[in-house]
Amino acid sequence: MSETAIDKQRVADSFSRAAATYDQAAAFQRSAGSNLLARIPAQLQAHEIVDLGAGTGYFTRALTQRFAVAAAGLDLAEGMLRFARQCNGSEHALLDRQPRWVVADAEALPLRPASQDLIFSSLALQWCPDLARAIAEARQALRPGGCLAFNTLVEGTLFELQRAWQSVDAFVHVNRFMPSDELRQILAASGFSHWRCDLETHVLRYGQLGELTRELKALGAHNINQGRPGGLTGRARLRALTQAYEAFRQPEGLPATYQVAQILMFKES
Ligand SMILES: C[S@@+](CC[C@H](N)C(=O)[O-])C[C@H]1O[C@@H](n2cnc3c(N)ncnc32)[C@H](O)[C@@H]1O
Repeated sequence: MSETAIDKQRVADSFSRAAATYDQAAAFQRSAGSNLLARIPAQLQAHEIVDLGAGTGYFTRALTQRFAVAAAGLDLAEGMLRFARQCNGSEHALLDRQPRWVVADAEALPLRPASQDLIFSSLALQWCPDLARAIAEARQALRPGGCLAFNTLVEGTLFELQRAWQSVDAFVHVNRFMPSDELRQILAASGFSHWRCDLETHVLRYGQLGELTRELKALGAHNINQGRPGGLTGRARLRALTQAYEAFRQPEGLPATYQVAQILMFKES
């Protein structure tokens, strides 16, 4: 989402409210993040690790386990980190080391320059109004030879929902996602010595549209564009939306497409 209209407080509040329901709805998020984790080179040595936009901390714990050091989970949403911290005391207490949790904005990282070996971020940076700034912050915090591994959503994500809404009214109901060419330009201009960006398509299937919209709500991934209409969605509009979305139905159900860019960047040694 490359919109300057993104209101960070609104983003933080929305994710904080969703903290308790996020994990049950996050199958796609797990899959996209696991693919990113699997891309990190096996030989990478990492002692100082940040999970940026950690949410409930699933990947912060996975990083802690994989690298056997306590990773730091950073997030804009205090409610997410409160929930993540509670998980320290549950079944995840089996970890030898417990992650640390810090409220922070990816566009203004509270990290010392050249202090981190690995900055991991799954499905968080599309919420930054200025992605180039977030990448620059990460680069500054990385040690020479350090790695920024992140994924983000690009154009084509939730296109079915977007088109269905377009046939109902002129408001922006679905967050806008950056075209992949624009993303590559930002990566090329970021000053990292080498990087790669691969696109992945995930198509989720639903029996009914309501399952998708409920899932987006449970994830906290609401539309936060300023052009959205206020108030409740009227019944007639919802009926029109449902009907429009049905045009996309396939034998396996209603599709919802996510276009994920998986990115690895290495700072010059
Ligand atoms: C879709 S969740 C992903 C959570 C986790 N990485 C995962 O894969 O399950 C996105 C997270 O990014 C956080 N986020 C959004 N904008 C952020 C920003 N500017 N700085 C830090 N975190 C941010 C949200 O609060 C939310 O917890």
